[in-house]
Amino acid sequence: MNPLDTFFSDQARARELGDPTAPLCVFITTESNDYPTGRTLVLRNIDGQLGVFINKSSPKWNQKDRGVSLQTYWPSVEIQYRIKASCAALDPEMIKQSWKQRPETPKKLDWFYERQKPQSANLEPAEATSFTTKLKEIALLDGSTAPDSAAGLLLVPFEFEKLELRLGDVPHNREKFILIEGNWQHYSMVP
Ligand SMILES: Cc1cc2nc3c(=O)[nH]c(=O)nc-3n(C[C@H](O)[C@H](O)[C@H](O)COP(=O)(O)O)c2cc1C
Repeated sequence: MNPLDTFFSDQARARELGDPTAPLCVFITTESNDYPTGRTLVLRNIDGQLGVFINKSSPKWNQKDRGVSLQTYWPSVEIQYRIKASCAALDPEMIKQSWKQRPETPKKLDWFYERQKPQSANLEPAEATSFTTKLKEIALLDGSTAPDSAAGLLLVPFEFEKLELRLGDVPHNREKFILIEGNWQHYSMVP
């Protein structure tokens, strides 16, 4: 059994219940000083695989090479997943196509990262004051395309842990799936 199928089916249940956290994950990396850091990202289903859209100018682009963990919790179904995954860059052509559907401000931000300052850089006080105006001034000409720094990652899981909370005075259900030589091994865990 591929735990990704279970993941998508639990996520679909959360979506049907209108859970606002259903599309989200916490994407966890380590900083250069080995300190862990996480941030919320939209977790995408890309032809049955997990993916995220991020910008290469962000520190997380290089941090991903030291390993990535994902975490989700959907209160509507009371299920938590912890996933370890390796990453590969998504096809730039696919990114460029989907980028065209993005709203104007995120598009302009991608060009801001490319030409002015990388994502997550500090702004000087004067830059912070004029930031919104500067962003508005970025021209998106007809047919403008994504900068090369607009990117995405395909996440290839090799370990899943699922914790399902149980109602009443019973222990929670906790299981782990580890990919060993192409086969998923299943373990029940002490919750
Ligand atoms: C609900 C939500 C969804 C988000 N989705 C994304 C996303 O899909 N891609 C992204 O790069 N940042 C997304 N962000 C912003 C990130 O959490 C983060 O602030 C940003 O990517 C900068 O991260 P960094 O400090 O690792 O550079 C989202 C934030 C929230 C609150």
